[in-house]
Amino acid sequence: MLHLQLDRQRSHHPYYLQIMEQIRGAILAGHVSRGFQLPPSRQLAIELGIARRTVVLAYEELCAQGYCESQVGKGTSVADVALLHVAPLEHRTTTGLPQWLVGKTPRSAVPEGEWQPTLNDKSISPQQSLICFTPSLAQTNLLPLKAMQKAFQTVMQTASIHLQGYEKNNGHPELLDAICHHVLSNRGITTSPNQILITNGSLHSSYLLAELFTPHGGGLSYGVPGYLPISRNFIKKGIQGIPCAVDTDGICLTEAAHLARFHYVMPEHHFPTGVTLSPERRGLLLQLASQQDALIIEDDYDSEFYFNRHPLPALKAAEYNERVIYLGTFSKTLFNGLRVGYIIAHPEIIQQLMDLRWQMDGGTSLILQLWLAELLKSGTIDHHLRRMRVHHRKKRDLIAQYLHRDFPHWQWQPPTGGLQFWIKLPPEQSALKVVQQCRALGVNVFSGHHYYSSECKQERDHLILGFGTVTEQQIHQAFSQLKNLP
Ligand SMILES: Cc1ncc(COP(=O)(O)O)c(C=O)c1O
Repeated sequence: MLHLQLDRQRSHHPYYLQIMEQIRGAILAGHVSRGFQLPPSRQLAIELGIARRTVVLAYEELCAQGYCESQVGKGTSVADVALLHVAPLEHRTTTGLPQWLVGKTPRSAVPEGEWQPTLNDKSISPQQSLICFTPSLAQTNLLPLKAMQKAFQTVMQTASIHLQGYEKNNGHPELLDAICHHVLSNRGITTSPNQILITNGSLHSSYLLAELFTPHGGGLSYGVPGYLPISRNFIKKGIQGIPCAVDTDGICLTEAAHLARFHYVMPEHHFPTGVTLSPERRGLLLQLASQQDALIIEDDYDSEFYFNRHPLPALKAAEYNERVIYLGTFSKTLFNGLRVGYIIAHPEIIQQLMDLRWQMDGGTSLILQLWLAELLKSGTIDHHLRRMRVHHRKKRDLIAQYLHRDFPHWQWQPPTGGLQFWIKLPPEQSALKVVQQCRALGVNVFSGHHYYSSECKQERDHLILGFGTVTEQQIHQAFSQLKNLP
């Protein structure tokens, strides 16, 4: 027998689908079998208080899926579902996953307790009213929307012929050219299109590199505290991780790290501490890579935001730079959700990465690539960056003033670049507790322990205050609350 009921609260679940699913469920559970006559659509529509067309749609869907058949003058009846080879319900797993996968799905790359910003992250905005000093995010309310729209229109009007391609490549030639100019004027890197691969951001770049290099084995040195998702991409594939401390001159390579085959570094601003790798350490690193036949992975994620001085040229701009693999991204330049980045490396490495990438997913959206090329060529990105540097510097100075005034026991250096403050708390204060107390006052700050790998025993009581997304007004509001911290 059929007992159909509509859930009228599930406003997004159309009635015809609800009817179809209930009848299909009854057939699969064996409650009705072959030949069973469904009620006439008019009668069912009256019983359920809905339009007849809705019932007709449900019946049509059941027929299209093979659960029912309809004959002119005879109405709709249940078909022979044995022909559909539908597994009886008792053979299905409770999760709906294949048995061999149940409980064996690889866990997320993010270990428990490590914070990662996500769209639904309750820790970022449990209440709308929270002011969030979220690190690693770019400000999106000041994007040059008009210029961005215009660039998109230009691309759509002129580019249709370029958008068809399933042709294997390392990126669209227009974007590759535009990046060559961009990195030369902003980062001092001289390169050519055959040394660049367009990717879906630096995290993706690191995944591709890990995939390519893992068969060669060896270790990867990386700084702690640090941006761990990238080193984890290598470690998860089987490369041995060699954590190294970071001091005021940047990453300090341990003896074990000297033998590493890969060195993951953020020379301009080490994340999250913001320190710049000193010229001496840069020289040593390049020398070491050459002596030990190793590669350096340079993550240059936010060097465009500098406040006191121009950034040092990228490591990739050094004279002997063949061993440097440069990771660039538009995540901070424009916005994180864009998901476009690039790798600059030796043409042989790019060729191998391109083969791998092409096999994986056929490359980055051409429309995005052409749009970015247009934004770079038209000067929109450079103009936006100049504007944002001034804006972020103001916010940095404002936060620095408040920290000086209200928290004299907290230790920090004003960031010369980047988008976050890294604050060491006095020994009697626990970062997790301070985070909770701030949240109770309506302000989200974050604990620095997210940036330490679990095996590292260093001092972890740091706070991180990202100022990429907060407005000046929010900074005033937040600190008027924070001065009430116990
Ligand atoms: C230090 C660092 N490297 C890399 C990335 C990842 O960049 P992308 O968005 O291009 O994957 C981030 C993201 O915030 C970051 O903070």
